[in-house]
Amino acid sequence: MHAVGIVAAAGSGLRLGAELPKALVPLGGRPLVCWAVDALRAGGVDDVVVAVPDPQQAAFTAVLPADVQVVVGGDTRTASVRAALAAAREQVDAVLVHDAARPLTPPDVVARVLAALAAGARAVVPVLPVVDTTVVVDDDGVVAADVPRPPLRRVQTPQGFDRTTLVRAYAQAPGPAVEFTDDASVMRAAGIPVHTVAGDERAAKITVAHDLRMAELQLPGERN
Ligand code: C5P
Repeated sequence: MHAVGIVAAAGSGLRLGAELPKALVPLGGRPLVCWAVDALRAGGVDDVVVAVPDPQQAAFTAVLPADVQVVVGGDTRTASVRAALAAAREQVDAVLVHDAARPLTPPDVVARVLAALAAGARAVVPVLPVVDTTVVVDDDGVVAADVPRPPLRRVQTPQGFDRTTLVRAYAQAPGPAVEFTDDASVMRAAGIPVHTVAGDERAAKITVAHDLRMAELQLPGERN
């Protein structure tokens, strides 16, 4: 099975409070996007396409390996993935879509997603259980309902897809009025069942400054 990895790296990083796009922010001296590319390759992905913000295209090209394809992303994550999917080679069986914001994803997670695709799944996501009590609140911030926890899962990336099915699902997806926060929801909107494999806490998404500090503490040699 030939797999292409798409790294969504065109976000701004406003919530991280960085002056750079989030994917260029360094972790252990290397931009987050480089860690994400390495994770995909170490887990068995063959080629990688990275969607980047238009103004920083040159800066991304300068830090990424020469054999990584760089494309300009869009205003939403969905638009960025759509652009990368259009640029990816057609002669691949599988597409793994990964967030640049998940730099320390263990290769095992990537390998589990690839294995599920090889076993016949058309859509696969890594998931983790929800450990906190989870509730619905109303517009005034008052708890309106409890949510039973056992069936809930947190969804991570990389998310793996049969390429033809993903291209078709994106072609059918409604326009920007409907916001998708990941690619599995684009598949589900097209009626495709989404399977799950075990995720990993180390694949946590870096959103705010605290997340970056937590990731730094996971690096080899980090002691405090
Ligand atoms: O904003 P959030 O952290 O949810 O973004 C998840 C991933 O999607 C990030 O790696 C970000 O760079 C990417 N993204 C993108 N294009 C956008 C917005 C986000 O590629 N327009």
